[in-house]
Amino acid sequence: MLLWYNITLIDCLGLYFMHDLSKIIDRINTNSTKWSKYKDKNVIPLWVADMDFKTAPQITQAIMNKCEHGIFGYSDLTATVKPDIVNYLHQSFRWKINPQNIKWLGGVHMGLNLISKIFVKPDESVITFSPIYPPFLKIEQFTSRNLINLPLKYDQSNKKWLFDFDLLEQTLSNPGKLKPKLILLCNPHNPVGRVWTQAELNKLLEFAIKYNLLICSDEIHCDLILEPKLKHIPFATLNDEAKMRTITLMSPSKTYNIASLGCAFVVIENAELMQTYLNATNGLYADLNELGLLACKVAYTKCEQWRQQVIAYLQDNKKMIDNALNGYTNITVHSPQATYLSWIDMRHLMLEKNITNPTEYLENYGIGLSNGADFGAPGFVRLNFACAKDLLDQALKRFIKAIG
Ligand SMILES: Cc1ncc(COP(=O)(O)O)c(C=O)c1O
Repeated sequence: MLLWYNITLIDCLGLYFMHDLSKIIDRINTNSTKWSKYKDKNVIPLWVADMDFKTAPQITQAIMNKCEHGIFGYSDLTATVKPDIVNYLHQSFRWKINPQNIKWLGGVHMGLNLISKIFVKPDESVITFSPIYPPFLKIEQFTSRNLINLPLKYDQSNKKWLFDFDLLEQTLSNPGKLKPKLILLCNPHNPVGRVWTQAELNKLLEFAIKYNLLICSDEIHCDLILEPKLKHIPFATLNDEAKMRTITLMSPSKTYNIASLGCAFVVIENAELMQTYLNATNGLYADLNELGLLACKVAYTKCEQWRQQVIAYLQDNKKMIDNALNGYTNITVHSPQATYLSWIDMRHLMLEKNITNPTEYLENYGIGLSNGADFGAPGFVRLNFACAKDLLDQALKRFIKAIG
């Protein structure tokens, strides 16, 4: 009967696992990057973007089944995962692509470097908008391509981060020697948490058309939309023009907490761009780890109920932060529309208390946050709230002590 409805026992158990998100799981001595940083210190780690939740039980079960079988020879799983991704993109975003448009990547971070290196010549440049996930700012270091870093602007009255289109026009109309070729977009945006609207993305597309730019859209946070009225729009789906000039980077790793399994992919629908990509990469890297591919397959086909539970939990955690911190005038919490990351302006507090490094200051009160300086915004910190409520509650109490 259960199978008739295509529901397995483990799917039914999903409801039971809802309660698991509140359990504080010991991650010390598990090689966790997030928790190792403060191993012997009384500091609650709320920095790097991974979640303290166990991944969906369906994913763990699939990996355990494979491990129990115990043979890890060459695998053709890759061929069946691509149609699953095609279905997922269609169901989630009405985005119809061909499986051949997908190529595997070990991670989205490396994808940013790879795309910049392949599609931008040494005498051209890459544009991005900061504050931004730090690797975007390291493009010069890793690819020796010139980076033009344009600040986003904060609209105080609507409490929203926006693209500064005037600045973009100014920059593109006076290109200098290193002509811009590629925009590295973060959609939704880490760390300011914006879900870019259709109007904003269309405006960006207008610039891309006018100045003949490619767009590399990092959409790793696309399944973590926290405001029910908002929806993620893949840049490539805006229209045919967008489709022809967009390279999209995606991965189930953030949403399903499987970053260490290394399964990401790039979508390129323009045949000419795909050929350039293949010319540069063919034969240079192996197929992905089968366990990562398996996790990706299960994430996109069997874990929607789990994802919804996580979203609801994150929405509650976000409210907890707003309720705890919004009354303080020496900091400003920028609540995200997507992601599980709050972006916090500490500049008033820093003046008030003569603080030079807000992250070090908060570490002394027992909370470990990311430093905004790494995102191109000194004076800000980023708080990862994908953790058990009790832990977040302890962290917020420490935060209040630090700012009170
Ligand atoms: C916007 C963004 N892109 C890429 C990554 C890293 O992705 P990966 O682990 O697949 O390299 C992160 C991780 O936090 C991220 O926030």
